[in-house]
Amino acid sequence: MTSPTALICETQAWKDLKGHVEDINKTHLRDLMSDAHRCESMMLEFEGLLLDYSRQRATVETMDKLLNLAKAAQLSEKISRMFNGEHINSTENRSVLHVALRAPKDAVIKADGKNVVPEVWNVLDKIKDFSEKIRSGSWVGATGKPLKDVIAIGIGGSFLGPLFVHTALQTDPEAAECAKGRQLRFLANIDPVDVARNISGLNPETTLVVVVSKTFTTAETMLNARTLRNWITTALGAPAVAKHMVAVSTNLALVEKFGIDPNNAFAFWDWVGGRYSVCSAVGVLPLSLQYGFSVVEKFLKGASSIDKHFQSTPFEKNIPVLLGLLSVWNVSFLGYPARVRTDSCHLALLPSPREICSAYSTGIMESNGKGVSIDGLPLPFETGEIDFGEPGTNGQHSFYQLIHQGRVIPCDFIGTVKSQQPVYLEGEVVSNHDELMSNFFAQPDALAYGKTPEQLQKENVSENLIPHKTFSGNRPSLSLLLPELSAYNVGQLLAIYEHRVAVQGFVWGINSFDQWGVELGKVLATQVRKQLHSSRNQGAAPEGFNYSTTTLLKRYLE
Ligand code: F6P
Repeated sequence: MTSPTALICETQAWKDLKGHVEDINKTHLRDLMSDAHRCESMMLEFEGLLLDYSRQRATVETMDKLLNLAKAAQLSEKISRMFNGEHINSTENRSVLHVALRAPKDAVIKADGKNVVPEVWNVLDKIKDFSEKIRSGSWVGATGKPLKDVIAIGIGGSFLGPLFVHTALQTDPEAAECAKGRQLRFLANIDPVDVARNISGLNPETTLVVVVSKTFTTAETMLNARTLRNWITTALGAPAVAKHMVAVSTNLALVEKFGIDPNNAFAFWDWVGGRYSVCSAVGVLPLSLQYGFSVVEKFLKGASSIDKHFQSTPFEKNIPVLLGLLSVWNVSFLGYPARVRTDSCHLALLPSPREICSAYSTGIMESNGKGVSIDGLPLPFETGEIDFGEPGTNGQHSFYQLIHQGRVIPCDFIGTVKSQQPVYLEGEVVSNHDELMSNFFAQPDALAYGKTPEQLQKENVSENLIPHKTFSGNRPSLSLLLPELSAYNVGQLLAIYEHRVAVQGFVWGINSFDQWGVELGKVLATQVRKQLHSSRNQGAAPEGFNYSTTTLLKRYLE
């Protein structure tokens, strides 16, 4: 065990793993996969969810060494400190208690000596009540019409988590049935085109706007909120705000100042990090408006089941712990800086590289992209992972060339046994879901085994093409097979990835729960905003910027 302030890379466990890399570099997944005992020991199941990490570049010895590293990092103590509400987010002096957001009513989880679970349930009950009123039409808009459409304004953690769950739930038949006749849209970006897209086809008379912001100060969200307030009041008059706008925030004073009745505000707490907030009113309110509270409650229960598993399962059978340790192995020892996720299920927007649009990506990259230890010491190793992906087989037709024959990028394959929307076409060999899952099963082996020149020769491939058709293989991946993509399973998946990120951070000895890195850009944008204002209103020439920015600003202002 190390002293709490020592860097993890100074421990014997870390050094052992460094030394072990040489052993692993002598192996090939082709050979490792032929050992059925090894493979069996690298599969585990929890509530029907099957994790197979046998295609990681790891042996039983690697796993032992990683578990030693967990011990050296005091992982178990750190997990307990999180669940006990200690201020493990030390730079913001806050507890990290997103697990309390989905705890059962009778659980006791304390922050600063106070059980927070009753407060959590007060808000959940308020959401249940409010969403039922909206959905049943007993709460109507200013002109007496039911509110069937919702625009949720928010950005970052106040957007991506809810979008992920919304995207996934759209295929759950029960959820889809509950959502009939209703629309949920998300407005995050400040691009005016996004505002136009969001309100396109909607009638303010039948629209409810939910402003979601932990701080209620985020520039983009507040401007979008003012824009939509204007959209509503222009059409329906100022008093309509009371019926058409509600808020989710930790800052209820600012909600009121904005003009939203505090009775129409749904609170959460500073011990919920923005990117960990989907299980608070941030996600639960818009999702309950769309699908009904009972569907969302299943999602919360799924997340809670993983919380229990994470808190109480020995590390060698603990899914988030093993995933976190393997990520550390891949990043810090094997030197792979990125990870690809492919979802052979409908998590469509979840891993999109187009917008790095996912609860996962934000969780992973905002949490663990750090340069110093939790005690402020510069780290002599890199942390965090570049996380990207595509749903289904889309990746096959975009970046898979890179991962098969170019860069080595560990992959997560996520699939479901059952499709929520099965399609069987007469005359086809397999169903659409079988087709999708054929790739889920094939790709990990293609990456692991590759294809040798000898195999190509046997296939009579012409000599000049052999180098081009050779696949080195030995490319790691892991597979997560879920029974289906129900609300419950979506909750499980979310919590697995949340806790995996925490495990990585705990082992690296960093603070995964602050995000100072996003502040500098925001501060500079404020300076630019002021400049644009004074240039437009007083004709002031841009000043205080370097040559490049001044030139760009001038061009823009012209
Ligand atoms: O810019 C990053 C961030 O601070 C996230 O951590 C947060 O989820 C997001 O901005 C939005 O913040 P808020 O919910 O306060 O509007």
